[in-house]
Amino acid sequence: MTSTMHRPGIARRENGVPPPDVPMADIDLGSLEFWERDDDLRDGAFATLRRESPISFFEVAEFPGFAAGAGHWALTRFDDIHHASRHPEIFSSIPTSTSLNEVPPEIAEFLGSMISLDDPRHLRLRTIVNRAFTPKVVARIEESVRERARTIVTNMVANHRDAEADFVAEASSLLPLQVICDMMGIPEDDEAKVFHWTTVMLGFGDDEVSGEFADIVAVVTEMADYAMRLAEERRTNPRDDLTTSLVQAEVDGERLTSVEIASFFILLSAAGNETTRNAISHGMVALTRYPEEREKWWSDFHGVAATAVEEIVRWASPVIFMRRNLTQDIEMSGIKMKAGDKVSLWYNSGNRDEAKFANPWLFDVTRDPNPHIGYGGGGAHFCLGANLARREMRVLFEELHRQIPDIVAAEEPAILHSAFIHGIKRLPVAWTT
Ligand code: HEM
Repeated sequence: MTSTMHRPGIARRENGVPPPDVPMADIDLGSLEFWERDDDLRDGAFATLRRESPISFFEVAEFPGFAAGAGHWALTRFDDIHHASRHPEIFSSIPTSTSLNEVPPEIAEFLGSMISLDDPRHLRLRTIVNRAFTPKVVARIEESVRERARTIVTNMVANHRDAEADFVAEASSLLPLQVICDMMGIPEDDEAKVFHWTTVMLGFGDDEVSGEFADIVAVVTEMADYAMRLAEERRTNPRDDLTTSLVQAEVDGERLTSVEIASFFILLSAAGNETTRNAISHGMVALTRYPEEREKWWSDFHGVAATAVEEIVRWASPVIFMRRNLTQDIEMSGIKMKAGDKVSLWYNSGNRDEAKFANPWLFDVTRDPNPHIGYGGGGAHFCLGANLARREMRVLFEELHRQIPDIVAAEEPAILHSAFIHGIKRLPVAWTT
C-alpha cells in the first residue's frame, strides 16, 4: 500500500474562472495585511485596480529599519508597465529599482548593483557577465544542470520512502541554488549559507523566514564579506567562473571596487535563487490544481515544454514588482506625476491583464502567444537569467515527469508574506512509490 492512497491533496479548481471581486475600499498595497491575503484575493484586488484605477497612489508599508519614505504610483495595466520598462530615460532605476522603502544606509552600498543603475554604467556592468547567460552558453551547461536535477529528484525519492516531502526544501530550491553557486564558483559546502542569506534578504516582511532589522543587516554584511574574500582568492587564483569575471573586468578603464564586486555578487546570488525556486513551486501547485493541463504536458513533454514553462512564469509572476523613479513630470492615462516620484510596475497584474491575454485566468500550458512580463517588461533591465531559468524549470519538470510523474501538491502552499517576491515557503508533495 502506498501513502498516496490517503494523501490529502489540494483544492482542485475550475480552470479559467476569474477571482472574487474585491472592492477598491479593501485595497491597500501599502498594508502588510494585504500581502498576507491568499492569491485569489490578491488577484481580485489587482483586477479591480486595472478596471477602476489603473494608476493609483499608495503609501509604502513601514518595516523596522526600513523607512517608508514617499508613496508611489502603482502601474497595473500591461501596456503601462511595458511602456515604463522601455523608457528608462523617464523611468529611471536610480536610486533603486527593488525597494519601495528607503534603503537603510547600513546596507545601501551592497544593494546598489546594476539593477539599480541606468545606462551607460548599467550596460557596462551587465556586459561583464552577460556572456555567461546567452542561450548558447546556457545550452552548454545543460548537461550539468540535468545531472543535478536528476540527482535532486533521485535523492528526494530515496530519502522519503513514505513518498511525501517538502518540495521547496528537497527540489525547487536546490536546483537554482546549485546552478548559480556553480556559476559563481561558490564551493558546494557553502551552498547552505547562500541559501540562508538570500532567503533572509528577500523574505523581508515575513517573520517566519526573515528576521529583525539587525538580522538582515548582519546577513547582508556577512554575504558581502564572503563575496570579497572569494573575490580576493580569485584575484590570485583565477578560474572559469563569474567571480573571476568580476575581479578581472575593467569598466571605464578601472577595475571594480570590492564593494561593487560584493553588490554584484549579492544581486546574482539573490536573483538566481529566489525567483526560479518559486516559479517551479508555483508550477507544481498549478499542475496539481489543473490535472488536465498536466495531462496535456505529460502526454507530449518535449512538444509542450517551451510553452508550459512560459505559462508557469506568467502564472507565478515570481517577482511581483519593480520600482522606477521619474526623471521628469509626466502624464499617463490622465494621471499627472512629478519628477522624483516613485513608480511601481506590477508584473503580477500585467500578467493577468484581460486586455492583453485571452482569458488570463486560464492556466494553459499551450498558451501561444504568451507575451508575459514575468521577466520584466523588456528594455535594458530585462531579466539576465531568463534563458537559464527556462532551462532549469524545463529540466527539473522533465526529471519529475520521468521519475515520479504522479507527484502532486499534498497540502496548500505556505505563501511568503511579501509584496516583492511571490514565494512559496513550504509545499508538501506526495507521489506513488
Ligand atoms: C523564473 C525566474 C526568474 C524571474 C521570474 C526573474 C524576473 C526578473 C525581473 C522581473 C527582473 C527585472 C526586470 C526589469 O526591471 O525590467 C529581473 C532582472 C534580473 N534577473 Fe531575473 N528572474 C528570474 C531568474 C533569474 C536567474 C536564474 C538569474 C541568474 C542570475 C537572474 C538574474 C537577473 C539579473 C542579474 C537581473 C538584473 C538585470 C539588469 O538590471 O540588467 N534572474 N529578473
